[in-house]
Amino acid sequence: DQARDRARHVLAIDQGTTSTRAMVFAHDGTVRSVAQKEHEQIFPRAGWVEHDAAQIWRNTTEVIGQALGRAHLGGHDLAAIGITNQRETTVVWDRTTGEPVHHAIVWQDTRTDRLVAELGGDEGADRFREVCGLPLATYFSGPKIRWILDNVDGARERADAGDLLFGTTDSWLVWNLTGGPDGGVHVTDVTNASRTMLMDLRTLSWSEEVAGAIGVPMSMLPQIRSSSEVYGESSKLGVPIAGVLGDQQAATFGQACFERGMSKNTYGTGNFLLLNTGGEIVASDHGLLTTVCYQLGEQDPVYALEGSIAVTGSLVQWLRDNLGIIDDAAQVEELASRVEDNGGCYVVPAFSGLFAPYWRDDARGAIVGLTRYVTKEHLARAALEATAYQTREVAEAMEADSGVELAELRVDGGMVANDTLMQFQADMLGVDVVRPEVAETTALGAAYAAGIAVGFWSQQDVVDNWREGRRWSPQMPEHERARLFRQWKKAVTRTFDWVD
Ligand code: G3P
Repeated sequence: DQARDRARHVLAIDQGTTSTRAMVFAHDGTVRSVAQKEHEQIFPRAGWVEHDAAQIWRNTTEVIGQALGRAHLGGHDLAAIGITNQRETTVVWDRTTGEPVHHAIVWQDTRTDRLVAELGGDEGADRFREVCGLPLATYFSGPKIRWILDNVDGARERADAGDLLFGTTDSWLVWNLTGGPDGGVHVTDVTNASRTMLMDLRTLSWSEEVAGAIGVPMSMLPQIRSSSEVYGESSKLGVPIAGVLGDQQAATFGQACFERGMSKNTYGTGNFLLLNTGGEIVASDHGLLTTVCYQLGEQDPVYALEGSIAVTGSLVQWLRDNLGIIDDAAQVEELASRVEDNGGCYVVPAFSGLFAPYWRDDARGAIVGLTRYVTKEHLARAALEATAYQTREVAEAMEADSGVELAELRVDGGMVANDTLMQFQADMLGVDVVRPEVAETTALGAAYAAGIAVGFWSQQDVVDNWREGRRWSPQMPEHERARLFRQWKKAVTRTFDWVD
């Protein structure tokens, strides 16, 4: 493996909710090249969200080729490949043909709401929480698999016969990258497995009891591995695939949140605030999830508390695609900054019900406080503010559950380029908000996990490479801060109990 020793780069694939990206990183953690391609968002009915997994796989091969081409690199220049992904999104495919049996059901999809209520029965949403750390909600994979088996002709029989495989998009990509029907490895990592509802957080193995109760055959499930080890080799490039992390855990890793008590917030289609709780599995009393943060090879796992917000950046996309009041996402800031405040208007984007800290499948979005005075500028501002209010709600839940007071917040993701939002976020939280120099922490985290597995990086390198880029400090008077948040809380209650 002398050639591999000379390889000076790591490739990361970030298979996100709206696009797939390939990024090449150099040893100092800087970006050498990027390629990105969006895939179709399929909305067959209100509340349903699907992706075409075959399209996602085609886009993946395309962006890998482009990213390598742009950096003038080939497989022999890569020490490893790391993969990170939208979590929970459920793919079921045929192990012989490699064809998905149905569109992937996306994490935002609420079609399993009745099923989820049924599964809860008398015990309610917490029926499996002790085992998997999660409340029963439409968000997670287990019930989505069950839906596919119940609704696709012949799927249940084929699954029982061992012909179908399940995976979140990490598994789907690794299986295809390592040969697909031709010897592809069927694996996932502990972080992704911890979002299915089917994994026991203590043993890090599938819970036969929960899988049985939800109605998922064990034969469909991938092998659970650590987040940083060699799973197989890319059949095209001959490079080891050596890191897999769900995107939020990857961002936590890329932000070097390795100490218990460190946290980060990622502003993507949704927002996800994760707090490293070390080796301790902390049960939440305030609507947070208990999840795996990462596991490096044979080391003990590190756990996290997570506040998941379903809709933040995707609200801006909705302003663009469904209302047409902006042409591109970046314009929202320009529009919002034409007004001093929200004009009394609040947008609660409960498009997928409400996630943390409420977990209400019965909620749907609302725009409240409308008067003849309110303009599209106010609406844009209210949409941005919604992200900051929701973040404050999960940050408060985090403090209540962990007893750790937030000293500052490390942030990353697309929306952190938005200065107005970041200032408002600092104002709402009452603590500093800090962005690292390299804000691409999700892809970087996956690259690091892969690089660590093959000895290209050490964990200390990750800490050393993290540098502060920009900081926002609170400026808003306390009474204003309290008033806005009080109104927001009232607006949230207006979304409850909407679905019949
Ligand atoms: O849990 C869903 C999350 O992993 C999606 O992240 O960045 O694709 O919105 P993102």
